[in-house]
Amino acid sequence: MTFHARHLLGIEHLSPLDITTLLDLAEQYVTLNRARNKHTDVLAGLTQINMFFENSTRTQASFELAGKRLGADVMNMEVAASSIKKGETLIDTALTLNAMHPDLLVVRHPQSGAVDLLAQKVNCAVLNAGDGRHEHPTQALLDALTIRRAKGRLHRLTIAICGDIAHSRVARSNILLLGKMESRLRLIGPPTLIPSGAADWGVEVYDDMAEGLRDADVVMMLRLQKERMDGGFIPSGREYYHRYGLDAAKLSHAKPDAIVMHPGPMNRGVEIDGTIADDINRSVIQEQVEMGVAVRMAAMDLLARNLRAGPVEVMV
Ligand code: NCD
Repeated sequence: MTFHARHLLGIEHLSPLDITTLLDLAEQYVTLNRARNKHTDVLAGLTQINMFFENSTRTQASFELAGKRLGADVMNMEVAASSIKKGETLIDTALTLNAMHPDLLVVRHPQSGAVDLLAQKVNCAVLNAGDGRHEHPTQALLDALTIRRAKGRLHRLTIAICGDIAHSRVARSNILLLGKMESRLRLIGPPTLIPSGAADWGVEVYDDMAEGLRDADVVMMLRLQKERMDGGFIPSGREYYHRYGLDAAKLSHAKPDAIVMHPGPMNRGVEIDGTIADDINRSVIQEQVEMGVAVRMAAMDLLARNLRAGPVEVMV
């Protein structure tokens, strides 16, 4: 099996075989991460720089842990303390860092397309840790690994993605990935939070939770991304919860063994009821976090192999 990409900028550029290769390798890292000694030297001698221009808890922590467990020298650039605050452009900052010879650059940026642009200017491998409302490829990959482990496959599942689809890079990357792997996708949310044109993506669109969740295998909830909203998209938090918040009554329309997912950060009592989020028989939210470290290790391992030797055989 091979993995040809030089960067990981989005799911858009990956083939089903690339996705399977990455997830198979991530399985090995799940095992390593559960062992007492979590250290390997796969990235020994390589330098990883994390540049987060937007807040992050899970993604930044897991990229940092992933790099350290693989033996890389990991630097977190403190954006708040950097020259960006003095007016330096993103590209100038990137060129400055590039001159220090990093091998892997992990970037999160509030503008869609900023990470692709940056990748054209540097000669290391770039990993997109989320750009605006465009893509968040490692999130979709960790979601896929979580689903595959719970359901045994990624094809022919009915997967409902619920809530603020319009502002969500997580939704976009998941729609691309799960579509490539031949699952049936349903988007559920108020019409104001469903992107125009969604009906042409080969997905079903619902604005009623009971209808949209009927017989679903996977229920993926999303946060209302108010920081990307420039107006009144929802009537009120209370009404939103009443109509779209996942509670036991709404979940009862899904299959009895349906799993509940959320990329975090979660707003309890807005898009999801706290008891559902904490129900270990239904919620795989903590497992998503665990899979995040393994998937990021696999992604950096594969990109580093390509850095060293060009496309290579990957034994999984
Ligand atoms: C998401 C993000 O930043 O896109 N969080 C994450 O990476 N786990 C989702 C969100 O912010 O709601």
